[in-house]
Amino acid sequence: MAEKFLMRFLLDMPLFFDTNILMKRPIYLDFNATTPMDPLVLDAMLPYLKDEFGNASSNSHEYGWEASRAVSNSRKSIAEKLGALSKEIIFTSGATESNNLAILGVMHNFRNHRSHIITSEVEHKAVLDVVKSLEAWGVEVTYLKVDKYGRVSPADVGRAIKPHTRLISIMTANNEIGTINPIKEIAELAKHHGVFFHTDAAQAFGKVPLDVKNMAIDMLSISGHKIYGPKGVGVLYVRSQKPQVHLHPQQFGGGQEWGLRPGTLNVPGIVGIAKAIDLMFSNHETDSTHLLKLQKKMIETVLQKVNGSLLNGHPEERIYNNVSFSFPNLSADMFSLGLNGLAVSSGSACSSAEARPSYVLTAIGHSDALARATLRVGLGRTTTDEEVDICITKILQLSKKSQEIGH
Ligand SMILES: Cc1ncc(COP(=O)(O)O)c(C=O)c1O
Repeated sequence: MAEKFLMRFLLDMPLFFDTNILMKRPIYLDFNATTPMDPLVLDAMLPYLKDEFGNASSNSHEYGWEASRAVSNSRKSIAEKLGALSKEIIFTSGATESNNLAILGVMHNFRNHRSHIITSEVEHKAVLDVVKSLEAWGVEVTYLKVDKYGRVSPADVGRAIKPHTRLISIMTANNEIGTINPIKEIAELAKHHGVFFHTDAAQAFGKVPLDVKNMAIDMLSISGHKIYGPKGVGVLYVRSQKPQVHLHPQQFGGGQEWGLRPGTLNVPGIVGIAKAIDLMFSNHETDSTHLLKLQKKMIETVLQKVNGSLLNGHPEERIYNNVSFSFPNLSADMFSLGLNGLAVSSGSACSSAEARPSYVLTAIGHSDALARATLRVGLGRTTTDEEVDICITKILQLSKKSQEIGH
């Protein structure tokens, strides 16, 4: 049956096949996976890849002084954006490492005590796999369920807190469905109970207002490549006062970053992430207005014109650059065949029908089949109206075709 359907579909392929695709690369609509570097970020980095190549730890000559100055200026600039102090900014290799350092670093303090962590079922693997590794050491973990929009309820967090809860780690916004969590309320609950609060803000940072002091956030992870900065660089904010967070390093060596993250500093990367953050703030008005408009157009048109289509994630509490649809009347095979020319993301780990469906989509109540029939469209600073129109048209054509062949 499946083969018969595929044959019929392949025979009809020319209808879908835009000959321009042979000449052009697909339209990039996967900005939740990664972003291209902003040219201004590259400009800011270039001197540190060329003439200013010094080691920021070399304190006896001007090459080192210049590198060290660049790192200090970057740290200061990032701290200001977060409402933090310079010494609270630790440079890492990305959000994965920031999450590891935050979670393992705090939990090390309690290694000889009964301990409990609260997180959610829909966190990125860079949190889930870290807490899972702690379970092997006897740490108890509560994986909170989310509502149908993928949101964590502060009341559930409150109910899950135990006398030996040490850490709560809840993402600011979800990478698959874009839902924003009520971070301020959760952080305040944690503070009230004397529990540390960490948030993975890889997807939300620069899009959602995040003031670490006013929001009682103790640790926050940022990734360079999600915000038009370079890959391989990230930030971990670590509160230094009231309460001070003591982290135990996970790597050992030259003592850089107050011994928390030793290793020669990635000066071009650090300058790049600082510039990228700067641009996220200075472009915020323009980016959010532009992308909210495109997001609204895509959501409204598809929901209205594709029978049965569902928007995943919260309708309002979502980051401005994420759209995720599930199509109960389409099969995952149709996507791989019908959306050529678009670089978008599907609801399973790979495009094969055998691949495991996304745990985020099953956590919001989707069946395996519906989770597979899911498309994530990530919009970006450079996305045009025309690109969104092409994407919408392709989705509509696909749905029409699917109806015609009675799938
Ligand atoms: C929510 C979230 N956390 C963590 C990560 C990992 O970030 P990085 O690639 O900087 O290690 C990602 C990236 O996919 C993400 O979306």
